[in-house]
Amino acid sequence: MANIIVAQTAGFCFGVRIAVDMAKQAGEKLGHAYTNGPIIHNKQVVNYLKSIGVEEMQGYSQLKPGDTVIIRSHGVPPKTERMLKELHVNVLDATCPFVKKVHDKVKQLVEEGYFVVIIGEEGHPEVIGTLGHLEEVDGKGVVVENFEDLVKKVPKRNRIGVVAQTTQSEDFFREAVGYLAENTEELKVFNTICDATSVRQEEVKKIAPEVDVMIIIGGKHSGNTQRLYQISKALNPNTYHIETADELQEQWFENKENIGVSAGASTPDWIIQEVVNKIKEIKGVSHE
Ligand code: F3S
Repeated sequence: MANIIVAQTAGFCFGVRIAVDMAKQAGEKLGHAYTNGPIIHNKQVVNYLKSIGVEEMQGYSQLKPGDTVIIRSHGVPPKTERMLKELHVNVLDATCPFVKKVHDKVKQLVEEGYFVVIIGEEGHPEVIGTLGHLEEVDGKGVVVENFEDLVKKVPKRNRIGVVAQTTQSEDFFREAVGYLAENTEELKVFNTICDATSVRQEEVKKIAPEVDVMIIIGGKHSGNTQRLYQISKALNPNTYHIETADELQEQWFENKENIGVSAGASTPDWIIQEVVNKIKEIKGVSHE
C-alpha cells in the first residue's frame, strides 16, 4: 500500500499568500487590476489571475487615473510609490511584512550613522526596493552577492550595519558577517532572512532520504523551488521537479511505495492537491 508524505511546509509562504489573496480579491471585486511584475513565479496562478482581470503592468504609460496597481511582495523603492500616486492610481500594497522590516532596519542604520551592507542579489526586485529606501534617507551602502564583492566593494569604514535580502542563504550571511566583524571596528547586524525558505529546505532534507521517490512541485523559474529540487536530488536520486500533475509519469512510481511531496513557496495548495490525487490514482489508492 503506497504511503504518500506531503511536507507540512509545502506551498505558499505567508507573504505570497497575502499577495495572491489581494490580487484575487482585486480581480473579483474590480474586474481589472495591474501588478508591478509577475505576482509570483507560478504560471498557473498568473494565468488564473489574468483570467479574472489581473495582469502584469507593461509600463507606467499604460496607467490611467483610477486604475489599480498591486505592489507585489518584493516591495518597491519609495520613488515608485510616489510616481504611482502622481498618476492618481489606486495602490494596493502587498509588500511582505518581512521585506518592510528590511526597509525599517536600513533606515535605522542610516539614522544611527552606519554605512549599510546589504547581503543580497544585485538587480533583484527586492534589493532594488531596499536600495531605494536607503537612498531615500541619504544613506550610503553597497550590495554584496559573494565573498569577492565583500572584499572589493565594502570600503574601509569604522561603523558598518548589515541587513540581508529576505531569501538569502544563511551560510553566506554567516560568512559575510564573520568577515566584516574581523575588518570593522563597530558592526551592527540585523539578520533579516525570512525563515519561509529555510524551513522548507529543512523538511525536504528530512523527507527525501526516507522515501523511494520524491516529487518537488513548483514553477520551473522559481528559485526557491529549484533549490528544493537540488537539495532533494542530492539526497535521493529519484527526485523529480514538476509544475503540474500532468507531468507525472507512471514509471517513476513502479515498485515505489513511499512517496514524498514538497513544493516551493509560490505553489498553490490546489496544484499540490492535484498532484497528490494523481499519484493516488497511479498507485491505486482511493481518495478520502
Ligand atoms: Fe515574505 Fe519570506 Fe515569503 S519574505 S514573501 S514570507 S519568502
